[in-house]
Amino acid sequence: MTYEHHHDVALRAARAAGQLIKDLWSGPLQIAEKGPRDLVTIADVRAQAAIKENIRQDFPDHAFLAEESDAELGAENHTSNFRWIVDPLDGTTNYTRHYPAVSVAIGLEVDGIPEVGVVYDPLLDNAFSGRRGIGAWLNGNPVHVRHTAELSQGILGTEWPREPELRAKNVALLEELMPQMFTMRSSGSAALSICYVACGWLDAYFHFSLQPWDVAAAAVIVEAAGGKVTNLEGEPWHIHGRSYLISNGHLHPQLATAVGYFLARHP
Ligand code: IPD
Ligand code: CA
Ligand code: CA
Repeated sequence: MTYEHHHDVALRAARAAGQLIKDLWSGPLQIAEKGPRDLVTIADVRAQAAIKENIRQDFPDHAFLAEESDAELGAENHTSNFRWIVDPLDGTTNYTRHYPAVSVAIGLEVDGIPEVGVVYDPLLDNAFSGRRGIGAWLNGNPVHVRHTAELSQGILGTEWPREPELRAKNVALLEELMPQMFTMRSSGSAALSICYVACGWLDAYFHFSLQPWDVAAAAVIVEAAGGKVTNLEGEPWHIHGRSYLISNGHLHPQLATAVGYFLARHP
């Protein structure tokens, strides 16, 4: 299976959610705190409802793993080989400040294997997408990771965990890596940053604490663009892995070694 139709449905759903996110941008956002440093707005909830409705038009029996609570949306307990993993708005903190870096992330796993990913940036109208083993695209044009082979030429991305002890580790790891890198960036949307590795806009990325919906779609895209995804220990990734090291592939051995030394001293 090449999942072309599933890919196109995910794109359609992501664009519908992105339109809602744009439409609600300057209205009352109804911001609520669902946990420490963890916000939700009316846009998160409405975008998630739009994505499910859209996908169900073509695939009424598929299962979902989606970030926002389904209390108001009607919970469902479908069991299916197909499961959509949805972050309706990645970068909610940015959204509440009108900091213009947000995305919609929709992944599809089949029998537990992530096969399709779509990440849509509604503000720049950038649709990143990928199918495992087939290819990765930006607005339908093929994309590939950049061939940066030296850390000194590499741009590193990261975003911040919510947990204070993991933030301290982020700072310590950056302190160790940054003297070796060209520079670093932090967009506030993990899904977007990972897609930037796929396009060669960044060369590598790490995070200590991602949820399945932050990473499922973007990891498929960056691998299909020639990149490499592992956990911070350098082991194969899965959506519940929490920590991630993502790169253009060329920098992966050097970064994994540096992170390995770091983790031995910061268990
Ligand atoms: C968050 C963003 C952020 C990352 C957090 C995520 P949300 O997702 O991706 O960049 O550092 O770990 O939870 O809450 O905006 O969907
Ligand atoms: Ca997220
Ligand atoms: Ca989110």
